[in-house]
Amino acid sequence: MVAGFAAVDIIREKRDGQTLTEDEIRWIIDAYTRRQVGEEQMSALLMAIFFQGMNMQEISWWTDAMIRSGERLDFSKLSRPTVDKHSTGGVGDKITLPLAPLVASFGVAVPQLSGRGLGHTGGTLDKLEAIPGWRAALENDEMMAMLEDPGCVICAATGSLAPADKFLYALRDVTATVDSIPMISASIMSKKIAEGTSSLVLDVKFGSGAFMKTQELAHELAQTMVQLGRAAGVKMSALITDMNRPLGRKIGNALEVEESLEVLAGGGPRDVVELTVELAREMLTLAGQPDADVEAALKDGRAMDTWRQMIARQGGDVDAPLPRALHTEDVVATEDGYLSDLDALAFGVASWRLGAGRARKEDPVQAGAGIEIHVDAGSAVKRGDKLFTLHTDTPERFDLAKQTLADGYKVLAAAPLDANRSVVADRIK
Ligand code: URA
Repeated sequence: MVAGFAAVDIIREKRDGQTLTEDEIRWIIDAYTRRQVGEEQMSALLMAIFFQGMNMQEISWWTDAMIRSGERLDFSKLSRPTVDKHSTGGVGDKITLPLAPLVASFGVAVPQLSGRGLGHTGGTLDKLEAIPGWRAALENDEMMAMLEDPGCVICAATGSLAPADKFLYALRDVTATVDSIPMISASIMSKKIAEGTSSLVLDVKFGSGAFMKTQELAHELAQTMVQLGRAAGVKMSALITDMNRPLGRKIGNALEVEESLEVLAGGGPRDVVELTVELAREMLTLAGQPDADVEAALKDGRAMDTWRQMIARQGGDVDAPLPRALHTEDVVATEDGYLSDLDALAFGVASWRLGAGRARKEDPVQAGAGIEIHVDAGSAVKRGDKLFTLHTDTPERFDLAKQTLADGYKVLAAAPLDANRSVVADRIK
């Protein structure tokens, strides 16, 4: 605890573009977490930070103050090195599911403390909860045991890591201050550093379905997080990836588990495989295995074996059929041409409206709801061809989802030139 300040002075300084001191930052985060600085004052400070920004030193103090608000995990006693991955979130982003067992199959420990979805991006826990019996909540010792064997765990983050972030994130959400690079960086990195991983690979997305709308902003966010991690002794690298169109051909909870199983069985869509393999290579490079043949581990069943152990250890029935929605409707091409301009945001919102996501954090999600894409972007289609299938348990949702999707793709006379572009646009080593 540092000596007292007046919140109003700190707000005024930031409003006027001054740099905050370490003591001021430590004091206000601590007092706010103990509910001794009110929401109205923190709201004003967040808005001042949104407009004035923070320099790297301030962001680093802010991150550290958030880490100190809670407990820290310690993976140093594990016999395996730990490597974590964090994605800033996108539509159809199920990469954690095949990636964690794939990397763990090389003898590395992969902790994936994950969350539930809100709005148009899905949450990893919602996806796995589509598997009958699977449970997200684990005690710390269960989590540690799984990191030894089978070497990976995907579970709910406990409230004890960086609790200041929970209050701050909820406040940012309702004060239009989420999309600030200093705030996003401090929020993500405080939780990752508190979690205690020795290495971390970031997947920072840009485009219509991402927080960051341009590649330049995504690069700046990635650079800031890499600097914060390295300053805290974490080995870091980052991929900057394209989220203008949905990742893969399946969006929705059970549908994304289904597609992850295709990847673990050595198949799956080109972009999902590309990103899984690229992230696995980055993670294994940080863990000291730059020459690991990750594609072989997908083809020969090693990654699938690790997946089966991981799911079973958390009560999941690996052989049970995945839930299907009660109703489906197809969207067909109304003319001949080439499927183009699939827009991630429109697919994310449509899938959410079908019941795959939630509007408020207490809402339930439908396991089977979502969208299947039948045709790869850039492929030729004929009038009447099936383009997409919409899935939901509540068919009154079809009309709104279809309206949303109507602006989310085009059928053009000429094939788009960039249909086979790589998902990975840039990287920070
Ligand atoms: N994810 C987080 O954990 N925090 C943010 O601020 C944004 C995305």
